[in-house]
Amino acid sequence: MRILVTGGAGFIGSHLIDRLMQAGHDVICVDNFFTGHKRNIQHWFGNPNFELLRHDITEPLKLEVDQIYHLACPASPVHYQYNPVKTIKTNVMGTLYMLGLAKRINARFLLASTSEVYGDPEVHPQTEDYRGNVNPIGIRSCYDEGKRVAETLAFDYHRQSGVDIRVARIFNTYGPRMLENDGRVVSNFVSQALKGTPLTVYGDGSQTRSFCYVSDLVEGLMRLMNGDFIGPVNLGNPDEYTILQLAQTIQKTVNPDAEVNFEPLPQDDPKRRKPDITRAQTHLNWEPTINLQAGLQKTVDDFRSRLQVEKRLSLETSVS
Ligand SMILES: NC(=O)c1ccc[n+]([C@@H]2O[C@H](COP(=O)([O-])OP(=O)(O)OC[C@H]3O[C@@H](n4cnc5c(N)ncnc54)[C@H](O)[C@@H]3O)[C@@H](O)[C@H]2O)c1
Repeated sequence: MRILVTGGAGFIGSHLIDRLMQAGHDVICVDNFFTGHKRNIQHWFGNPNFELLRHDITEPLKLEVDQIYHLACPASPVHYQYNPVKTIKTNVMGTLYMLGLAKRINARFLLASTSEVYGDPEVHPQTEDYRGNVNPIGIRSCYDEGKRVAETLAFDYHRQSGVDIRVARIFNTYGPRMLENDGRVVSNFVSQALKGTPLTVYGDGSQTRSFCYVSDLVEGLMRLMNGDFIGPVNLGNPDEYTILQLAQTIQKTVNPDAEVNFEPLPQDDPKRRKPDITRAQTHLNWEPTINLQAGLQKTVDDFRSRLQVEKRLSLETSVS
């Protein structure tokens, strides 16, 4: 098949492209490199089945493909709050254009939505029929409400024009190629521990999160795309950890002497987040297989090798 991945140079998109290329598909990666990097996909450069297009999805695009994985959107608060109006445009205009494309060329369309559509949830764990508790005017709204509109657009294109859609609600995902400066808790803790600086815990660390390793997530996305179930479907790891437990696990993995610092909680930070994955188990026969310890080890190895490259480069620059 010929498959378009928007946001393919990003963290999840590049792992998805690896799987699609390994399966022998023709892959077109579209990215504006806001948070994505060529280094995530450069191992496919020169392969005749791979094409890279620098394109901003807030502008229309014409292509012929069989499937569209629509992932383009900055995913971490530091990046989506950098230019909130652009984030809304990416979610609304970008999704509109991609759905328009899917309609025109009769392609199957998968939206990478998010657990953030549940906001600060009053229901725990979150099932897909929970409608959420989102602040429409807060600093996270450009992302949360943007994704909610993206879901609405997908379902309206489906009802009104018969577009073949799939909607995944992705919960916290981590793994190699995450940006070390994305402000997300796993990347923060891992880079702090590797650099020997204290681990920053916001609040008292009792807020909970669930963490899904990226290869599990990509497997879930592909099962959703290639099955009959439209969704929305939660994809995440239901194992719940407090932020303090995560900090301690990373301390143990990287540096048992690392200190922990406590700072005030940011606005609208959800207190609890855990997916109910019954739908994914039932309709996709999917559940995560990589536990936190194993996933963190692979993530730490990747961060460590990137930090070493950075160090070497800065040494070379200072010597020359
Ligand atoms: N990582 C997670 O924990 C998580 C959780 C929930 C949902 N998601 C969703 O999954 C998708 C991928 O997330 P990620 O973690 O890989 O983030 P990421 O920031 O690494 O990837 C997003 C990619 O989209 C590109 N992009 C952003 N705006 C664009 C635009 N206007 N035009 C073209 N390209 C653009 C970026 O350059 C980047 O390569 C996002 O839609 C995100 O909302 C991720």
